[in-house]
Amino acid sequence: MTEMRVAIAGLGTVGTGLLGIFAGDGADRAPRPLRVTAVSARNRSRDRGVDISDYEWFDDPVAMAADDSSDVFVELIGGEDGVAKAAVEAALKSGKHVVTANKALICRHGLALAQLAEEHGVALRYEAAVAGGVPVVRGLRDGLAQAQVFGVMGVLNGTCNFILSQMDETGASFDDALLEAQKLGYAEADPSFDIGGVDAAHKLVVLTALAFDAMPQLEDVDLTGIEAVSTDDIAAADELGLTVKLVAEAARHGDALALRVGPALVPSREHLAQISGSDNIVIAEAMPVGRVAFTGPGAGGGATATAVAADLVTIARGSTGPVFSVPAAKINAEPRVTAEDTHDPYFLRLQVKDQPGVLARVTNALGEANVSVDTIHQAPAQMPSDPASDEPVEIVITTHLVPRPVIRPLIDTLSGLHAVIGRPSMFPILTEEDPS
Ligand code: HSE
Repeated sequence: MTEMRVAIAGLGTVGTGLLGIFAGDGADRAPRPLRVTAVSARNRSRDRGVDISDYEWFDDPVAMAADDSSDVFVELIGGEDGVAKAAVEAALKSGKHVVTANKALICRHGLALAQLAEEHGVALRYEAAVAGGVPVVRGLRDGLAQAQVFGVMGVLNGTCNFILSQMDETGASFDDALLEAQKLGYAEADPSFDIGGVDAAHKLVVLTALAFDAMPQLEDVDLTGIEAVSTDDIAAADELGLTVKLVAEAARHGDALALRVGPALVPSREHLAQISGSDNIVIAEAMPVGRVAFTGPGAGGGATATAVAADLVTIARGSTGPVFSVPAAKINAEPRVTAEDTHDPYFLRLQVKDQPGVLARVTNALGEANVSVDTIHQAPAQMPSDPASDEPVEIVITTHLVPRPVIRPLIDTLSGLHAVIGRPSMFPILTEEDPS
C-alpha cells in the first residue's frame, strides 16, 4: 500500500510532539502508512530530545514545501505572513496537501488559501489552529454541517485561562502565572498575543468562518486583553458567584455579526467557568440540535500534535472536502459587523472617595446613560468615623441589560468624575445559555 510521505516545517513544542506521535506515542489508525521524510526548522542542531537524523533536512521550508520528497506539508512555523505563508502557498501550488496549526495564517489568508487548495484539488486542514487538541473545527464543519448556527462562545486561549485560574485558585500574581504558562509550553512565541486577546481573536475569526460561512477581519473583533484584570476584580466577582474568563463570542444578528473577545464574568456554576488551567471550550447554539459543547486541552505540544496527526489521518483516508464548511466561493468575504443589537448585563467595580453625595453622582451618571442598576454594594470603609480619611471605598454595581456601544462611553464618564479614583473595572456578565 502506498505510504503517505510527510514533511514537517517547524520543530518547536508541537513539531516535537508530532514526531513523538510518529515514534509510537499515538494509535496507528491511518489506512496507509504515514512516514516523515523531511523536516525543516530554524536550528538543526538544537537538542529536542528526538532523533531527526533519519529525515532529509531542509534549511529552507519553502524549498521543502515544493520538493517532491513528500506528499503532505505540515506547517508549524507560525506567523500570518513571511515564510509560513510562502511555504503553504508553495506546497498547495505543487499539488500537496497541507496541514497547519497556524491560526494567524488561516485568520488572515484562509480564504485565499482555500481558493488555492480548491484550484489544485488538495486538502488544507487546520484542526490544531483552534482549541489545540479539541476537535472543534471538524465538529463545526462536519458535525454541524447541516445545522443553523446562531452563536458560538468559548474560552479559546489556554495561556489566559491558565493565568486567570492560577490567580483565582492560588492567588498567584499575573506575572508569575504567565511565566509558568510559558514554561509549560502554552504561550505563543510573543505572549502579548495571548494576554492581549489576539490569539483568541484569530481563533474566533476561524470559528466564525466555519459557523457562519463568513470571513471577518481580525480588526472586526471588539478586542480586550486580560492585562488589566486584577486579583481584586477576581475576588469581587467571586463574592457574586461569578468567575473571570477571557471569553470569545460570535453571534449572528440578522444579516450582521457581532464579534468580541475580552474578559467577562460567567456564573461560577456553568461549564464555561469550570474550564480551568490550559483547557478550552467552545459552545455552539444551533438549530435544530440545540447547545453543543466541545472541550479539552487547548494548548501544549501533545494536545496540539494530536490534532495535527488527526488531520494527516483524515487526508490519508482520502477525505478532502471544503476547507471551511462550504466552498471558498460561497463564503461572504465582507460580512457586516456591528455590536448595535448586542445587550449584556455588566459588572462595574469603582474606587471612590468616601464623601457625601458620591453614590448619587455615580448613579446619576448611570441614569443619564439610561443604564439601570440591578445590584449595588459598597464595602464598609476602614475608618468610618473619620471624616478626614481619604481612604477610597469600593463600590460594585451590576446592571440590567446595556447595549454594547453604551458601556465604554459610560466608563469614560465615570472615570472623569472627581470622586472616582482611577478607571473603573468593567466586565460583561455572560451566560452560556445565551451565546448570542
Ligand atoms: N498560545 C495558545 C494558547 C496556544 O495559549 O492557547 C494554542 O493556540
